[in-house]
Amino acid sequence: TGLVVAMDGPSGSGKSSASRGVARALGLRYLDTGAMYRAITWWMLRKGVDLSDQAAIASRADEPVLVSGTDPESPAIQVDGVDVAGPIRSQEVTAAVSLVAAVPEVRARLVALQREIIGSGDIVVEGRDIGTVVAPDATLKVYLTASAEARATRRTAELTGTSVEAQQAAMARRDTLDSTRKTDPLSMAVGAVELDTTALNLDEVIAEVLRLIKE
Ligand code: CDP
Repeated sequence: TGLVVAMDGPSGSGKSSASRGVARALGLRYLDTGAMYRAITWWMLRKGVDLSDQAAIASRADEPVLVSGTDPESPAIQVDGVDVAGPIRSQEVTAAVSLVAAVPEVRARLVALQREIIGSGDIVVEGRDIGTVVAPDATLKVYLTASAEARATRRTAELTGTSVEAQQAAMARRDTLDSTRKTDPLSMAVGAVELDTTALNLDEVIAEVLRLIKE
């Protein structure tokens, strides 16, 4: 089967830009699994599902029709035929996504969809549980990290109207939820290579991953 590159790590570690850059450099497909968790969260919010009620989320986890694009040049995602690439980045979705991602029925559904898309490979997949759960047999597993300050600084630069301090607090909250949930918490996979991006720029991160793939 073809190449599968698993790129995991916490928010702001540089996963998305690095994953897209690696896919582009090698002519591979690209899958953003976080966008899928965001899309299902956007749908739950729109349907008025009570996100403090895990059973309510679970009972509707199979309803939304999700379509994920795999072109690294223009990552696309649709829910029930609606393009949600913009709305899934809203503060409202970002604040709620960890609650929805903690529900086992949601994870089971999205992991199955992700495996279908990965299929025979030739793809870079970014997320939190790709090396541990979705594709443990990946050709290469990378675990990206960076200092909390570097991660908050990067994320603040992408957004408007937020301070590094506020961003760092919001990310710490989400990281705690993601790494302490009962089902498949964020953790480094067996055999993963840890890559600390605190002092690296994007081109250096991409070059390092390309080097690891060639090894
Ligand atoms: O915005 P950021 O890059 O920090 O996160 P994301 O990759 O868009 O993922 C959003 C959220 O989805 C995460 O905080 C996790 O709660 C969840 N997620 C997950 O549980 N498993 C994945 N494979 C990807 C994302």
